[in-house]
Amino acid sequence: MTKKRVNGSTGPFGAFSPTEHGRLSLEGMYAECRLWLARLYASEAAPPGELLKPVFGAGDPKAGMMLIGEAPGKAETEQGAPFVGKTLSAFLEGAGFSRDSLFITNAVKYRPYRLNPSGGKANRTPTRAELVALRELLLFEIAAVSPKIVVTLGNSPLFSLTGRADIGARHGVLEKLESGAALFPLYHPASLIYNPGLAKDYEKDMAGLRDYAAKHGF
Ligand code: URA
Repeated sequence: MTKKRVNGSTGPFGAFSPTEHGRLSLEGMYAECRLWLARLYASEAAPPGELLKPVFGAGDPKAGMMLIGEAPGKAETEQGAPFVGKTLSAFLEGAGFSRDSLFITNAVKYRPYRLNPSGGKANRTPTRAELVALRELLLFEIAAVSPKIVVTLGNSPLFSLTGRADIGARHGVLEKLESGAALFPLYHPASLIYNPGLAKDYEKDMAGLRDYAAKHGF
């Protein structure tokens, strides 16, 4: 992969910028981010989302493989953990990975939502401004965990890390991140529900990921 910096302004609400806070542990960084989100919530520029109930990364902090999803949904926000539903578990089981051996996080750490006509909250895809705003935290997580391979699920985390949202062209193809870790873009497992036609590609990609893991001993 070329050394392309993410192209994108920090958007209407700025960005969480951990470098301003000196060297912190992952937990310390999450605490800083929680404060930043609370300040953002109180500002007029706040995007619609569960900013006061962020969901941060979880799992083995020394994992060889890190999975990055898009953003928590309703259940994740209620339970305070990423990917609590069955979709990811099925994906992991199918690929022979144990959840406990991974580090799992999201590109955006709070549930982005829009209000539907009855006043309920419906998940929405994070905007590019939101992805850029939380990007430094994602890079910090990658540096802290230092995985051998980073697996992005869908376009949102792919955009966060590379500035491109072209999963259709890049799924299943190994790249290299600036940190030196391998990047393996995959479709988001939920996209298979909406587009069953992706299943063949998905199986092939999973086989590639299994091969990589076997070769690298995890
Ligand atoms: N989808 C995601 O991308 N992340 C979650 O945590 C849950 C569902």
